[in-house]
Amino acid sequence: MNYFEDNHLRPHLPVLLEEVMSALDPQVGDIILDGTLGRGGYAGTILSRFPDISRYIGLDRDPDSIEFVAGQIKDPRFSTVSGKFEDYQQLLDLGDAVPNKIVLDLGVSSHQIDEPNRGFSFQQEGPLDMRMDYESGWTAEDILRRKTEKELADIFYIYGEETAARHIAKFWVNDRKSFKDWTTTGFAKFLHRIVPSGYNRKQLAVRRCFQALRIVVNDELGQLERSIPKMISSLPPKGRLVIVTFHSLEDRLVKHGFQAASSSNPSLGLQYSKKPMLPSDEEMKENPRAKSAKLRGFIRC
Ligand SMILES: C[S@@+](CC[C@H](N)C(=O)[O-])C[C@H]1O[C@@H](n2cnc3c(N)ncnc32)[C@H](O)[C@@H]1O
Repeated sequence: MNYFEDNHLRPHLPVLLEEVMSALDPQVGDIILDGTLGRGGYAGTILSRFPDISRYIGLDRDPDSIEFVAGQIKDPRFSTVSGKFEDYQQLLDLGDAVPNKIVLDLGVSSHQIDEPNRGFSFQQEGPLDMRMDYESGWTAEDILRRKTEKELADIFYIYGEETAARHIAKFWVNDRKSFKDWTTTGFAKFLHRIVPSGYNRKQLAVRRCFQALRIVVNDELGQLERSIPKMISSLPPKGRLVIVTFHSLEDRLVKHGFQAASSSNPSLGLQYSKKPMLPSDEEMKENPRAKSAKLRGFIRC
């Protein structure tokens, strides 16, 4: 049975689904931790295709995702936990049962992007929020109001790889005192006004600055960097960690995190292959979100 097909509810197309399954290689008795449950795309498919796995634990820092999937998947092997994957060891009440397979599918789900109130989309008007868990830390608006010109330029340059970062930060800090439209579309319009060149270049700057703000609001790279060594060292022998990334900053951290783990302690394990797995042409056609996806996996010795 596939939970989502049965319910005619499949709002989020899981990226690299077949590749994730082949990299995780679910086996009898496995305890799988999905640290980014999202809309449960991996969870529903793995639970239905692998009747012999022992448990599937879905963790997400977005309470809406947890509530949605908990309402969809009714399977005694499935449970959910709310929180950040960085804290999974404290969050899971497992006794001796330690996950031997872990999967992370980074970033936001299409459902989060499509919900204007979350503030992730520059195409629909919403608050400049972008917090995946609604409550912790600064919102995107806090960052735009409180960071200095130099700090904002660094944010747009480092996390958005935006080459006009200095120009944008200078104009923004100059204009923000009188800025009235503190919404996602308001900030996108500001970027369109001050970024030189044509429409496509302006849109690129919008995408990059929104990505940068989202990464900083949710400390996405910090979460990932701190989690990789923790997750690898907690895996039992033959355990696997599989990570799907969506931009070069994430992919670099995963590649280097895996390399660092195997070179600091060669008996720990190894990266599957030097090259990441990529989506097929067919998947990219069907799901444009998959275009930038890369999968890397680590096997514990
Ligand atoms: C791309 S979606 C995952 C989609 C999922 N694989 C599926 O098929 O439905 C990413 C999810 O990870 C969650 N997330 C991102 N960073 C997280 C973190 N540090 N800890 C826990 N959840 C996180 C987001 O809230 C989002 O729901």
